[in-house]
Amino acid sequence: NYYAILMAGGVGSRFWPVSTKDFPKQFHDMLGTGETLIQKTFGRLSQIIPKENILILTNESYNDIVLEQLPSISQDQIILEPAMRNTAPCILYASMKIKKQNPNALVLVAPSDHWIEDELQFVSNIQRSFDFCETQDNLMTLGILPTFPNTGYGYIEYDKLDSRPVKKVVQFREKPDYATARQFIQQRNFLWNAGIFIWSVKSVLSAFEKFQPEMYAHFFKGYDLYNTPEEKSFIQQNYPSAENISIDYAILEKAPNVFVMSATFDWNDLGTWGSLYDKLPKDENYNAVINAEVLLEDASNNIIRTQGKKLVVIDGLNDYIVVDKENVLLIYPKSKEQDIKKVVSKLN
Ligand code: GDD
Ligand code: MG
Repeated sequence: NYYAILMAGGVGSRFWPVSTKDFPKQFHDMLGTGETLIQKTFGRLSQIIPKENILILTNESYNDIVLEQLPSISQDQIILEPAMRNTAPCILYASMKIKKQNPNALVLVAPSDHWIEDELQFVSNIQRSFDFCETQDNLMTLGILPTFPNTGYGYIEYDKLDSRPVKKVVQFREKPDYATARQFIQQRNFLWNAGIFIWSVKSVLSAFEKFQPEMYAHFFKGYDLYNTPEEKSFIQQNYPSAENISIDYAILEKAPNVFVMSATFDWNDLGTWGSLYDKLPKDENYNAVINAEVLLEDASNNIIRTQGKKLVVIDGLNDYIVVDKENVLLIYPKSKEQDIKKVVSKLN
């Protein structure tokens, strides 16, 4: 009964210029392991989910890339979105398709772009979460011990007195502002949302029905057509008019039956050049170098990446991102890494 929804439709704009709309980060070997992020994620999920039950949700423009990078899957495991509408619509749509196939399905929802090294712990956390959702109407999240007031994450509050390994969530807050995030961290009973969810297909659909009744009705109109040849034209017509909203705002902030388990594996969301830097090996001056050959003088704490082998000579540069790619060269302070997203939208 185990299924996975692997979300691979984001554009990863903070990893520009390597990640682009035409070829986003999940399809790149960001870590230099020989595997792209989606291949790594697929490998991790297939340790607990039968391969044929792993569905890839992505924009229709990435279909060929997915097939090429995951040659062991079949075309009907790729659920194509004709428009980017964030994660709530795609999860709802995929869940309805899964329910039609197997009403007792238990579903793992996972992003395609995280770094998780300890796969054994990952599998055991997911297994426990599945057990917790099998007979109960629970929406499970995995929590990460926060280390600083990151405003790019969701925050999960639990009851301080609750000492059970799986805790009832008091409040889920998606992407709070800096002051709020700082206050949350000081309170010590908050975890970061890892963006990995576990629930039964029944529970998530009934949450959508309750908290997003319009979106639910919008997709339910096509229910009889799902998994038939008529599905495609229904989706082409109706998907683009679904509301653009993430699962975090649409469901998790609203539902009363959310639970959290502290993840027992190391986790990194690989959202920015700085988060990648944290995971890479460094030289004696804390420079992380990918592909390049370097000659460095008075250079520290930089992340330096070239497309292929290329000599990079630097003198007098600290805490910078240096990324070279065909016709783009990015030289940007690490402290402003979140702003790369704005640069990309300016360029567009
Ligand atoms: N199929 C599909 N369609 N996938 C999408 C879409 C879409 O329209 N939009 C985003 N995704 C995918 C991304 O590729 C990524 O794998 C995942 O969904 C999450 O989207 P992000 O855009 O990376 O979300 P986020 O990082 O801002 O926030 C989420 O993740 C954080 C942890 O990394 C939230 O769940 C936060 O609460 C959480 O802390
Ligand atoms: Mg993310």
